[in-house]
Amino acid sequence: MNPKAHEPDSLPVPEPIALAQSEALAATLRAQIAAADGWLPFDRYMERALYAPGLGYYGGGARKFGFDARDGSDFVTAPELSPLFAATLARALAEALAASGTRALMEFGAGTGKLAAGILLALDALGVDFDSYAIVDLSGELRARQRETIEALAPHLAPRVTWLDALPAQFEGVVIGNEVLDAMPVRLFARKDAVWHERGVTVDAQGAFVFSDRPAMSGLDAHWPEGVLAGIEGSEDYVAETHEAALAFTRTVCAMLVRGAAFFIDYGFPRREYYHPQRAQGTLMCHYRHRAHGDPFLYPGLQDITAHVEFTGIAEAGVEAGAELLGYASQARFLMNAGITEVLSEIDPRDVQRFLPAANAVQKLVSESEMGELFKVIAFSRGIDATLTAFARGDRSHTL
Ligand SMILES: C[S@@+](CC[C@H](N)C(=O)[O-])C[C@H]1O[C@@H](n2cnc3c(N)ncnc32)[C@H](O)[C@@H]1O
Repeated sequence: MNPKAHEPDSLPVPEPIALAQSEALAATLRAQIAAADGWLPFDRYMERALYAPGLGYYGGGARKFGFDARDGSDFVTAPELSPLFAATLARALAEALAASGTRALMEFGAGTGKLAAGILLALDALGVDFDSYAIVDLSGELRARQRETIEALAPHLAPRVTWLDALPAQFEGVVIGNEVLDAMPVRLFARKDAVWHERGVTVDAQGAFVFSDRPAMSGLDAHWPEGVLAGIEGSEDYVAETHEAALAFTRTVCAMLVRGAAFFIDYGFPRREYYHPQRAQGTLMCHYRHRAHGDPFLYPGLQDITAHVEFTGIAEAGVEAGAELLGYASQARFLMNAGITEVLSEIDPRDVQRFLPAANAVQKLVSESEMGELFKVIAFSRGIDATLTAFARGDRSHTL
């Protein structure tokens, strides 16, 4: 995703049919706010805006992933950028399967299905014998796209792919989630005149959504993330997200994993860096037609809303659920360790038409100024004694 912000005014206007869909979602949100006495916590707004069936950004028909705004898409992710991402990640997954003696994979939030197809093909080419590849996605519309992609790109492996409606109580195998944690609803908190408020959503006289901050109220305070807020230094005005949904998700996955490993790739920082006094505006970010901006109320249901991942909390949640932290590294380190340059070298450099775009994509994936440093890979394990090659150098677990 592109982290550069733009003014909402300069954004393209959606088609009338999309605007009507957005207005239908806005009407349900207004009703929900009214039913909640005029104030909805931000995470509930975000959850509806992204996942309301048929109307939310992931629950509805928005194009979402792609290369540029001309195809109606909003952002590009690593597996969309290049098949080399999946091919390299598959080498780490193969090692985790072998080290844990397991034969199953499970991917969360599989997007267009390109990552799944790429991993299936790479595992097959590496001679890895696996039984199944299960996909878990909240979006029904994406399931159909995933099936099409996998059947087109990896038809002989498609019979091993299944879609799950509910998680099994136990799973032995390897879990993958690329840019899934950042798509989970966050709560917002604002420190104003040294007093913390929870930031919610209300409706103004014109029917528009606006932020509204309210201080902790007795009876409602029990669920405040006191520890996190108290740890944010200083008394200056500050906006912070907390990540209850992503933490609960990590706990669930790590509790389910009885043997194997779980890899999550996303943009974010350890807690100390995340809640740094200078990051006073928080990390909430919206993506519409490859422009990033900060207004979550623009075209509800037609734009992506995300927040960076706070990796210390994720590590704690996984360990609390009984998993071990297998590693934490920048995406650049992880991909270099896992052999992305070897994967690239399999393309003949004289085949300029294939080699040049592949080399450019590798540069984007590993360059510090692009995705290499902002994106991290965190992995948990159960029943793996060895260090994986992908974390052999540059593991930053100690910074969490
Ligand atoms: C930003 S997209 C990333 C898609 C894909 N992994 C990629 O890299 O292109 C986020 C995806 O996570 C999915 N998602 C969010 N929360 C989820 C959850 N709790 N379980 C499964 N999928 C989830 C969304 O439906 C969406 O498909």
